[in-house]
Amino acid sequence: ESSEKGSYRHFMLKEIDEQPQAVQRTLADRLAADHVLPEAFGAEASALFKQVKNIQIVACGTSYHAGMVARYWIESLTNTPCQVEVASEFRYRHVAVQPGTLFVSISQSGETADTLAALRHSKDNNYLGSLAICNVGTSSLVRESDLVLLTRAGPEIGVASTKAFTTQLVGLLLLTLALGRAQNSLDTEQESSIIAALRNLPKILNDTLALSTSIEQLAQCFAEKHHALFLGRGEQYPVALEGALKLKEISYIHAEAYPAGELKHGPLALVDSEMPVIAVAPNNDLLEKLKSNLQEVSARGGQLFVFADSSVPFIEDTQTRVIKVPSIHPTLAPILYTVVLQLLSYHVAVLKGTDVDQPRNLAKSVTVE
Ligand code: G6P
Repeated sequence: ESSEKGSYRHFMLKEIDEQPQAVQRTLADRLAADHVLPEAFGAEASALFKQVKNIQIVACGTSYHAGMVARYWIESLTNTPCQVEVASEFRYRHVAVQPGTLFVSISQSGETADTLAALRHSKDNNYLGSLAICNVGTSSLVRESDLVLLTRAGPEIGVASTKAFTTQLVGLLLLTLALGRAQNSLDTEQESSIIAALRNLPKILNDTLALSTSIEQLAQCFAEKHHALFLGRGEQYPVALEGALKLKEISYIHAEAYPAGELKHGPLALVDSEMPVIAVAPNNDLLEKLKSNLQEVSARGGQLFVFADSSVPFIEDTQTRVIKVPSIHPTLAPILYTVVLQLLSYHVAVLKGTDVDQPRNLAKSVTVE
């Protein structure tokens, strides 16, 4: 992939569009017929994964949100305890390290100062070993970690991370499956259904990118707003956080994300017709819970924008717009719903005329503290 914009107006849209190919590369030569090849993480991975009792994930920014999604996957699919923390906090506090903990860092650049410092700090403690999920093979993080999975997203120029994030998620799902198999804690039917869904992911991502034009029309409803609230439940909560971060970063609209079940503990007080509420609603066990949370928003005059699985009947009305997203295996849903939220932020930012690829005050890589 080139570092030129080609016919694109912005790198960000080019990088959003590159996601099917980027994911394809992340998967290439890492899957056997029905399982993930542990060698993908390095020659020592198989032996090390068998000893893992606990996972500590550390990252910053968008990469931290990838770690938050991974926690849901690792705990639910492999029953391995997992903690996630931003590197700037982790590096400065005393962490009680459980025996058998694998230290996992996630970074697009592999040069983020806090993440690197956290890895170095971890070496003074009794971790089982370190694994980096990273996009840059020559980076310090990769050089200093025991195990590595390169995300192969290709160069990412836009400051707001897009394809680096979705390929991190794919890498973290590969980690979950490899770990679960090494520990015999993974249900084999679940394993093969997720592998099949991963193989099909580039195609579904392509279908999802076709929603760009309809999302562009929605963007009009946001351009004049000053605040927005993103809601999700379970592993869609970090997707909501990432959606809010993207909107803040490139359109300068103040955005917050909440786990939908927390609405009534505060944010409901802010809901009125001036604050759009965006919800991500894949077809999973929490759907009915989410629907009742959304009714609370409607009952208070809130304007809802629901990205929902196309197989789920969601009723549109004057207060509720529904954008149908292709159906997907529930485990992979965070990857797909991230893409629609990327498109939403992008189109809002273009309408507002901001510097999409170089938002004010932000840097692509934060290499100093
Ligand atoms: C900066 C970038 C973000 C990125 C974060 C972490 O804030 O603007 O897009 O998520 O750093 O960077 P890393 O390279 O460690 O993923």
